[in-house]
Amino acid sequence: MPAQDDRSPLPKGRFAMLNCLQGSYSEDIRRDVREGLSSGHKSIPSKYFYDSRGSRLFEKICGLPEYYQTRTELSILENSAAGIVGNFRKGDLVELGSGANWKIRALLDKVPETDLPHVHYLPVDVSESVLLEASEELLGIFPDLKVFCIVGDFTKPIEYIPAGCEKLFVIFGSTIGNLTEQEGCSLLKGIARCMGARDRLLIGTDMIKPKDILEAAYNDSQGITSEFNKNILHVLNRELHAHFNPRCFDHMAFYNPEEEQVEMHLQANRRISVEIEELDMTIGIRKGETIRTEICRKFSRTGIEKMAGQSGLRISRWFSDPKEWFCLTELVRWSA
Ligand code: SAH
Ligand code: TRP
Repeated sequence: MPAQDDRSPLPKGRFAMLNCLQGSYSEDIRRDVREGLSSGHKSIPSKYFYDSRGSRLFEKICGLPEYYQTRTELSILENSAAGIVGNFRKGDLVELGSGANWKIRALLDKVPETDLPHVHYLPVDVSESVLLEASEELLGIFPDLKVFCIVGDFTKPIEYIPAGCEKLFVIFGSTIGNLTEQEGCSLLKGIARCMGARDRLLIGTDMIKPKDILEAAYNDSQGITSEFNKNILHVLNRELHAHFNPRCFDHMAFYNPEEEQVEMHLQANRRISVEIEELDMTIGIRKGETIRTEICRKFSRTGIEKMAGQSGLRISRWFSDPKEWFCLTELVRWSA
């Protein structure tokens, strides 16, 4: 048995799960979908992609030949994980939007085995199924690690993060780019408030590159991204008793250079009227009209510096691949 660690108010034992969504999920989805589909430019927040089917489809996207991001970020981690982990020997490793565990494993591999009993891994994700699967596997691979899962929405205050010990925050997969500039800044500000002078935040960002490469990544030839995009309609059908027919929509993803973002939409291929029973509403959608389901912002080094500065953070280190297609940026508190 590893020695009990009494330094933080986390639950004892090797595994615990806290559900911060319970109760609010059904209220949130009703409000978000009502607002998003009543607006002139229809949209649905992307967090509703990720039920267990959505999470599985996303994992498939990560392995697609056109989707360079996952393998590029993993290659940066392979080269830099030891330097990133550095002297982190004891404390909380907090991952926001954790998903599958491939990337965190690269970091945990570099924590000396004798230090692992003093490390708590805190993954935060909206998808309970993905958290359970990823944690179970990690507990098997690292027999001394403690895992405290949080089912939660990181666009809301992250008040569940315990205070009082060293912290390394990570947000991989350019997930910060799926938030608007304002949402991204408020997430980073919230993290900065939890950070002490020695704490760090590592964020993975996909960089601006030629349009054809960006667009191919979101329009794969096997149609997996299209399935993933349409999964949001299955979620609405199940959660809100809506009557969307996914066949009435086509997947659409393109790079918008003014906004420096890839946008994903569902485009109606005929005129339709859809009943959403739980909301007591019927929405009309014109042929050719779109529902925006995701933004994937693309970054430059100056863009990252600006985002960090607006959030009370500054860049301490920077890791990239030879083509600078993807970057891992280490941030610390501005005053640190
Ligand atoms: N970090 C992984 C997964 C990225 S996909 C990787 O790099 O491959 C984005 C992840 O964030 C998914 O697991 C999704 O369930 C989760 N997610 C999306 N929106 C979220 C939100 N608002 N709050 C918490 N988790 C969210
Ligand atoms: N954040 C990543 C990106 O912007 C992963 C991702 C989120 C994604 N949603 C997606 C990838 C939808 C493809 C399709 O690329």
